[in-house]
Amino acid sequence: MNITILGIETSCDDTSAAVIRDGVLLSNVIAGQAVHEAYGGVVPELASRAHQQNIIPVVSEAIKRAGIDKSELSAIAFTRGPGLLGSLLVGTSFAKGFAASLQIPIIEVNHLQAHVLAHFIKTSLDDDRHPKFPFLCLLVSGGNSQIIKVLAYDYMEVIGQTIDDAAGEAFDKCAKVMGLGYPGGPVVNRLANEGNPRAFSFNKPRIPGYDYSFSGLKTSFLYTLRDALKENPDFIGQNMADLCASLQATVVDILMDKLRKAANDLGMKEVAVAGGVSANSGLRDTFCEHAEKYGWNIYLPPNAFTTDNAAMVAITGYFKYLGSDFCPMDAVPFARVQL
Ligand code: KG4
Repeated sequence: MNITILGIETSCDDTSAAVIRDGVLLSNVIAGQAVHEAYGGVVPELASRAHQQNIIPVVSEAIKRAGIDKSELSAIAFTRGPGLLGSLLVGTSFAKGFAASLQIPIIEVNHLQAHVLAHFIKTSLDDDRHPKFPFLCLLVSGGNSQIIKVLAYDYMEVIGQTIDDAAGEAFDKCAKVMGLGYPGGPVVNRLANEGNPRAFSFNKPRIPGYDYSFSGLKTSFLYTLRDALKENPDFIGQNMADLCASLQATVVDILMDKLRKAANDLGMKEVAVAGGVSANSGLRDTFCEHAEKYGWNIYLPPNAFTTDNAAMVAITGYFKYLGSDFCPMDAVPFARVQL
């Protein structure tokens, strides 16, 4: 019998629903929320209201695009955390109500685990390129920067993580200072392609082990602009591409220095990247260079699975379904939860 999972993702500002059958993606619908652009960041109250408006049309569309009837669903997987509580409540409550009406089980999904397992989404029946266990995964998003040793679908060890800001936050905050809007990461990436990555140098952290820190880079970036603007009020506009390229190169260097150290120390050559920042072309190019230079087998997710999406929730739900790992109807979401 087929196993057909509906995944629901509402942890931040994207409402998403996806259908996966026996590990193969049938549909993945994402509704973004433009309402936050005017505020330069996600406004939690507005995010939960937008999820409330979007959830039914997005789920209906996902089921329609999958070409199935809702009666064919085996279970509903939903993001339980981490994320914004008001946003998580919308997806959690919807999953419970829908599952109760269909008399099928619900499956709770950890958002961070889902980002890692996005590598196992099959886009067709013969798609079998995925990392082999154990592998290292660099998880880089707006809220997280972690190096994870992945031993199995349900066994992951965080061996390094940021002690302050995440890599995506560093991109977004520096972009905001340059007046580039929110989220700034993709804009910085686009402008960086036209600039010189060595035009400016910014501070890199010196912390032991595999942990990250991005707050020093943010301050260093801010001070560079502050000092230069005193001399030349048009400094940002005149140097935008070089600033973006140098910022991106510094973030990528910080990320890869620790990842390379971890891979080397642990003797691991299966290396993946996941999360919103994994869409960054500078980071992807550097992964490819590392594959050549150090013999890594690298896994770069398709762009559609880098930022928040329900396909990754559905695939995680699929693996949990195989292990009969269901959750009770009184489950509540968690804003903060570890991997
Ligand atoms: O994983 P994600 O969608 O949301 C969570 O934080 O969970 O990641 C969003 C982050 C934002 O900080 C955004 O600026 C960053 O990913 N991002 C990028 C790029 N695309 C998205 N950062 C750098 N380059 C990109 N191309």
